[in-house]
Amino acid sequence: MTPPADDTMRNDGARTAAVVLERCDELARHSSLPDGLIERVYLSPEHAAVNALAAGWMQGAGMDTWQDAAGNQCGRLEGATPGLPALLLGSHLDTVPSAGRYDGILGVLTAIAVVERITTSGRSLPFALEVVAFGDEEGTRFGTALLGSRALAGTWLDAWWELTDEAGITLHEAFVAFGLDPAAVTAAARTSNDFVGYLETHIEQGPVLEENDLPLGIVSSIAGARRFQITITGKAGHSGTPWTHRRDALAGASEAIVAIERLARDADLIATVGHLEVFPDAVNVIAGRAEFSLDLRGRFDADRDSVWQQIETLLDEICATRGLHVAVHQTHAAPAAHCSDRLRGVIAAGIRAADLRAADGADDAPAPLELLSMAGHDAMAVAHLTEIGMLFVRCAGGVSHHPDESVTEADVARALDAFEAAVLALADGHQAGSQDPA
Ligand code: GLV
Ligand code: MN
Ligand code: MN
Repeated sequence: MTPPADDTMRNDGARTAAVVLERCDELARHSSLPDGLIERVYLSPEHAAVNALAAGWMQGAGMDTWQDAAGNQCGRLEGATPGLPALLLGSHLDTVPSAGRYDGILGVLTAIAVVERITTSGRSLPFALEVVAFGDEEGTRFGTALLGSRALAGTWLDAWWELTDEAGITLHEAFVAFGLDPAAVTAAARTSNDFVGYLETHIEQGPVLEENDLPLGIVSSIAGARRFQITITGKAGHSGTPWTHRRDALAGASEAIVAIERLARDADLIATVGHLEVFPDAVNVIAGRAEFSLDLRGRFDADRDSVWQQIETLLDEICATRGLHVAVHQTHAAPAAHCSDRLRGVIAAGIRAADLRAADGADDAPAPLELLSMAGHDAMAVAHLTEIGMLFVRCAGGVSHHPDESVTEADVARALDAFEAAVLALADGHQAGSQDPA
C-alpha cells in the first residue's frame, strides 16, 4: 500500500512527531471492538490491515518490505554496501483488549520515522537498518506471548500449534486462515550474524519518568515473567446447601488470589490475576469450578520462581482445607533480559543529544535515568539473538493497557531525536571499531 500523497514524513522534529501520532491514530481505527475501543490480535483481519499500512510507511521511508513467515511486517534499508548485518529496530502492533494506542505501536512508528530521517539525510551507515513490526507481543489471542519475536529469534516451539483461542481455533488453523504456511514458520528465524543489535522505543508503562520530570529514560533490564492458568474444582450445588456440605470453588479461588497478592508483595514481586471465570455462573448455584490467570514478574528469575513454589504450596493447602482440587498450567515463561552496556550507552548518548538540541546547545538536563521495566517487551525474545537496548518515553500517569494511555507530541519529538542520535552513535562507534561509542 502506498501512503497518501499528503502523508509524507516531514524532517522537523515536532512535525515528524505529529505525523507519528497521526499514524498511531490511524492504526487505532483497525480494531475488532466497537465504540472506539481498541483490540487487535495476532493473525486477525486487523493484523493484516495494520501490516499493510506499516509496509506502505516503510516503503515511503525508503525500505524494501516483506511479511515474514510468522506474520511480522519487516522492512530493510541497505547500509554503505548491500548485504551488511543490520541494526534491528522495532516493537509490536498487536494489543491487549481495550488497549491504548501507543503500547508497541509508538515503537514501530518511531523506528520507521527514524529510518526515513536517515534516508532523507543521504547518510550511509556501516550497517543496514531493519524495522520489524511484531505481530504478537501481548499473547492476547493464544495466551502465550512474544510469538512474533520468538519466531524471529528462532525459539518457536512446535507445542504451540495446539494452542487455541477463545473460539477454539488452533494457532495452526489461524496461520492457515491468515495465508501463512505453518510448516514454513522456521523461515522467519534469523541468526545472530544477521544483526549488530536491536533497539526498541516504548512507552514506559509506569510513573517513574513522570515523577522525575523526564521525557525519556534508558531501560536497564526487563523483568522475567511467567503466566499460569489455574483451575480450582469443587462441587456445584444449590445455594441453600449447609456450610458443612459445600465445596465452593470460587471461595477457594478468592482466598488464593488474596494470599497470592500478599506473597508477591512481601517478596517485592508483581502478581496479577486479570482473568477469572466461574462455572456454572449463576446467582443461586455454588461455583463448581473457578478458572483464573496469574501473571508473575520479578527482576530476578530465581525470586520469581521461588515465590511460584510458595504459591503452589499455598494453593494445595487452601484446596485441601476446603475439599477442592487444583490444576495449574503454565502458559508463558520469559526470562529476565538485560540491556547491554554498549546499547545502554548509545541510548544514553541519544538522550543527551536530544536534550542538547531541545535546550539549543545548553546542556543543563539531568543525567539520563535508568529504569527496570516491569512490562514485557519483544526485546526479551530478540535478546536470544543479539544485544538489546531500549528507550522509554514518558506516558501520562504511567497508565497503559487502558484507553487512557497518552503521550505528548513534545516527548515523541524528543524520542525521535534521541532514537535517531542513538542509531548514529552506534554507527560512529561501529565505524571506529570501538566497543564504547557513547
Ligand atoms: C506486555 O505488555 C506485558 O508486559 O505483558
Ligand atoms: Mn503491552
Ligand atoms: Mn508493549
